[in-house]
Amino acid sequence: MFKAANYLPPKKFYGCLLTSIRIIVALLPFSLHAQATIPTAEPIIKEGKTLFENNCTVCHAIHEEIVGPALAGVYDRRPIPWLNAFIKNSQKVIQSGDTYAVQLYEKYNRMQMTSFDLSEDQVLAILAYIKDATENVPEPTVAPSEKAVAGGGAAEVERAIPDKYLLAIFIALIIVLLLILLALILIVTFLTKLIRQKGELDEADEEIVAQKINLKKIIQSKAFKGIAVFIFTAIVLKAGIDGLYAVGVQQGYAPRQPIDFSHKLHAGEYQIACEYCHTGVTKSKIANIPSPNICMNCHSVIEKAHPEVQKIYAAIENNTPIEWVRVHNLPQLAYFNHAQHVKVGGIECQTCHGPVEEMEVIYQYAPLTMGWCIDCHRKTAINAKDNAYYDKLIQLHESKHNDLLKVEAIGGLECGKCHY
Ligand code: HEC
Ligand code: HEC
Ligand code: HEC
Ligand code: HEC
Ligand code: HEC
Ligand code: HEC
Repeated sequence: MFKAANYLPPKKFYGCLLTSIRIIVALLPFSLHAQATIPTAEPIIKEGKTLFENNCTVCHAIHEEIVGPALAGVYDRRPIPWLNAFIKNSQKVIQSGDTYAVQLYEKYNRMQMTSFDLSEDQVLAILAYIKDATENVPEPTVAPSEKAVAGGGAAEVERAIPDKYLLAIFIALIIVLLLILLALILIVTFLTKLIRQKGELDEADEEIVAQKINLKKIIQSKAFKGIAVFIFTAIVLKAGIDGLYAVGVQQGYAPRQPIDFSHKLHAGEYQIACEYCHTGVTKSKIANIPSPNICMNCHSVIEKAHPEVQKIYAAIENNTPIEWVRVHNLPQLAYFNHAQHVKVGGIECQTCHGPVEEMEVIYQYAPLTMGWCIDCHRKTAINAKDNAYYDKLIQLHESKHNDLLKVEAIGGLECGKCHY
């Protein structure tokens, strides 16, 4: 009699089959990875460079050891799937007992590398950049031009500061001059008295000594009164006008923050990219102030005992936000969008915020007045690079004018663009 079961493999077989399929599926990504090679295309290397600078430069350099090992040639030291797993979650690899990872971890004093939520393509891009940077040692030509930009900003600040103290210096000078005058008058009076007492003067000398500086007469003279009134009015007017312009303007405002956080240390010395903390800056209207969790990416291991760093721990433990004092503050009626300026317009943070990477305490660098916005929109050409959207406009513009297309021309002076 026909019995299907006789012709079919025993049940156990299915179990084996299923397990084999499971194993193959599990290994599939690995075999795919094994085939994945490090890309060499220029745009991918560029993407990798940005990712590396935003996430890794705090702890890694290519050719030297910083917090973590130098990464030159790391793609030869380790297979790509290992690197992929390690970069995404190094602790997982270490805890799996991987000998290499454990040894490395011990060698670096059990310093935990941050976990990264990166895609495999992003990791490959980073490796592409590391490979490129390993093989082509960068020429030092970029730095000076960047320095030149930063230097320009610094020069402006240096000019701005004396301006503020000019009045104070002027007043101090006048006071010093008055004191000298007083001293001279006292000396003259004293000497005259002395000569008189000796009484050995001929007539001509007597006449000279008798000459008196008649202060009363000078003060009452028309010329003096005219000058005095003029100076007084000028000072009052100038102060008044400055005051009016300065209503609501907080240029130079540098409040004390609840934690002594230094941009000079983080963004300057350690070159942490602005976007690492101000995550919204290329994506949205606001730049974002980082949450304590972002600080903890590093401070769960770095400077744990520092009293200022302890404040971050306290904030997280008590579940209270750190109450940073806002420095920049446009009134409600104005609309400003970071992504539009940084991403679309290609403007550097420093253009509007000054040399932040040199600031121990952050301060408001630009006046943030309407005139400031408008002035820049009049002068600045739009950023047409990689933006096909503007091609037609620019063509049209260039056919009629021989200057660049300014923000003004795309509506940058329309009230509605900046006012709700
Ligand atoms: C907070 C500091 C820190 C950051 C940020 C960091 N790393 Fe690491 N990294 C380390 C340390 C420390 C080690 C040594 C292993 C350990 O202690 O876990 C390491 C090891 C490595 C290794 C293994 C090196 C070798 O010689 O085998 C690779 C690869 C690596 N990191 C890549 C990266 C990449 C890529 C990034 C950015 C996406 C990054 N790391 C960000 C600290 C860091
Ligand atoms: C990407 C890594 C990283 C992040 C993120 C980070 N820091 Fe730091 N921080 C450092 C390093 C590196 C140092 C310097 C350690 C040293 O000099 O020994 C430091 C030092 C400090 C110090 C001590 C300053 C001093 O004078 O020594 C404070 C306070 C501090 N950070 C606060 C913060 C706060 C607040 C945040 C979050 C807004 C933050 N950090 C985010 C890496 C980081
Ligand atoms: C490690 C994190 C971190 C990095 C990197 C960083 N910042 Fe900040 N930034 C902060 C924190 C925290 C504050 C709020 C505390 C303060 O004002 O000092 C802040 C405040 C600011 C403010 C003032 C915000 C306000 O209240 O108006 C500006 C402007 C600013 N950052 C610009 C930059 C620029 C430009 C860079 C890159 C050159 C940069 N930041 C890099 C953490 C960071
Ligand atoms: C075209 C000028 C301009 C540029 C470029 C610019 N900012 Fe701003 N930024 C402003 C203005 C204006 C404000 C005040 C916004 C407000 O009060 O609504 C501000 C506010 C901020 C704040 C306070 C928080 C917030 O989002 O309001 C931070 C942080 C900040 N900027 C960081 C940056 C960083 C980082 C960059 C570069 C990646 C940058 N800015 C580029 C003009 C600029
Ligand atoms: C450093 C120069 C600069 C400053 C300062 C500046 N902007 Fe702009 N702004 C630009 C550029 C460049 C663009 C064009 C971006 C683009 O290509 O879309 C732009 C575009 C804009 C737009 C969109 C205009 C449109 O027609 O699409 C608005 C709105 C705007 N800015 C508001 C402001 C406000 C508000 C301020 C002052 C708080 C300000 N900007 C300060 C350079 C500047
Ligand atoms: C490029 C952006 C921009 C454009 C275009 C613009 N403004 Fe403004 N305006 C601002 C900003 C930013 C402020 C707030 C800064 C300040 O108070 O100085 C402001 C402030 C004002 C104020 C003062 C409100 C107050 O409380 O002091 C008035 C009124 C005003 N704008 C009217 C206009 C009119 C009318 C137009 C069109 C002709 C215009 N604005 C176009 C950015 C702009």
